[in-house]
Amino acid sequence: MTEKKLIPVILDCDPGNDDIFAILWAMIAHQHGYIDLQGVTTLGGNVSADLTYRNALRMRDFTGIDVPVGKDLRPVVGAGDASHIHGADGIGGLSNLLPDVQEPSQTLDSVQMLIDAIQRQPGQLTILVTGPMTNLAAAERKVPGILQQTKYIIAMGGSFHAGGNVTPTSEFNIWYDSASAKAVFDATDHIVLIPLDVTQSFVFSPEDTEQFLAEINHGYKADFMRKLTQAVIHTTRNFRETHYQNGFFVHDGHVVGFLLYPHLYRGTLVGVHVENQWEYTKGMTVADRRNHARTDYRKTLVITDVDHYGFLEALVQDFREFDFGE
Ligand code: BDR
Ligand code: CA
Repeated sequence: MTEKKLIPVILDCDPGNDDIFAILWAMIAHQHGYIDLQGVTTLGGNVSADLTYRNALRMRDFTGIDVPVGKDLRPVVGAGDASHIHGADGIGGLSNLLPDVQEPSQTLDSVQMLIDAIQRQPGQLTILVTGPMTNLAAAERKVPGILQQTKYIIAMGGSFHAGGNVTPTSEFNIWYDSASAKAVFDATDHIVLIPLDVTQSFVFSPEDTEQFLAEINHGYKADFMRKLTQAVIHTTRNFRETHYQNGFFVHDGHVVGFLLYPHLYRGTLVGVHVENQWEYTKGMTVADRRNHARTDYRKTLVITDVDHYGFLEALVQDFREFDFGE
């Protein structure tokens, strides 16, 4: 009998409330043998590189799934974070509900982890990106051409028709380090981009939350997850993101959704350019849909639609089947 070959995956993230859902979902998929999660690489974004690193370690302890966690050793300086949305600790001010985290004695470099993983399995690795593109751009700078050796880079970011969520035109992940985002889109045509147009088309309601928490009934873990969703719903309402519909956007969860259930999504291939200069449009994603017979720009698969009920069912069922342990 031939051994089942699992998709090798690295999750590059800046947890971050909604990143937590992506991390947990990826770990669930790993526990069920759907993917081979080879690492979680973190970077500064929603909060500082120190905090996102600790939050990813916390999630590793939370699930008991022992994957290597990398740290961003070259954080971007000067960009504003999103702690007003994600809380000072990046997880809704709830870190005190979780056990203390032990940092490993040896700190792994996120960028080197990405490079090593791509080179170990050229053409095979899928990178899920739920934060800015700083680590990816640094990998490309160190080893030019390396991003073309990935299988897919499935990234949450950008906006085409929905407007921005950090400036009138720009989405946070692309805006935060627009120079790196531009370098990444210019370097590879392996990107699947899930923009705000899609992630904001679906609101995860408090009722959905209860469904999904139903099986997580183990003391502090259930308490943490319930309070995390309440915190996200609360900030979403404060910032009027959902036009007063109760609930929140599962932005980052969609990268795992697409990886596991691509049939739920539809998209189109276009050239994506990132604006990296102008005062009002820094971080804006521009789609080039012109009818060129020959093109000299890279193509990106931009997702335009998701089956809401299919997504909801997949997310809820997968979480319900997870063994969170004691
Ligand atoms: C993205 O920005 C971050 O604040 C979220 O974690 C998500 O990755 C949404 O624009
Ligand atoms: Ca994120």
